Amino acid sequence: MKRVRLLAVALAFTTPVAAVAVEPVVMHRDPGCPCCGKWAEQVKAQFGRAVRIVDDANRPSLMKSRGVPQDLASCHTAIIDGMTFEGHVPIADMKRALASRPRGVSGLAVAGMPMGSPGMEMPGMKAQSYDVVAFGPGGRRVFAHHG
Ligand code: CU
Ligand code: CU
Repeated sequence: MKRVRLLAVALAFTTPVAAVAVEPVVMHRDPGCPCCGKWAEQVKAQFGRAVRIVDDANRPSLMKSRGVPQDLASCHTAIIDGMTFEGHVPIADMKRALASRPRGVSGLAVAGMPMGSPGMEMPGMKAQSYDVVAFGPGGRRVFAHHG
């Protein structure tokens, strides 16, 4: 009986916390970059959350503070529920990282702007293959490969 009661108390505490977690996605982009908006639209649609877009001429300093490796730089840096996403990361990979929160991983990055990645779909252009790289205090590793 006591155990059941404890569970009820635990549920009462965890439910409101989960409800509060739906904060807007914040995306910093290089000012004027058009493909960032296309990526943000897909995030908005597939997460069902607002995306706040910040034109940020000083994005490298944000990348540094968020621990994004310089060689994985792209055109935008987004923060979702405390995790950092650099570049045109596929939404399914972001969802998988956010759900599993792998140990030692603080974010995912797609370096550069590969053709065919979300927001970089260009009719008539051949899709490139690319890696989604996980980075963080645990080092870095390939999280997913596309193409
Ligand atoms: Cu881009
Ligand atoms: Cu971008």
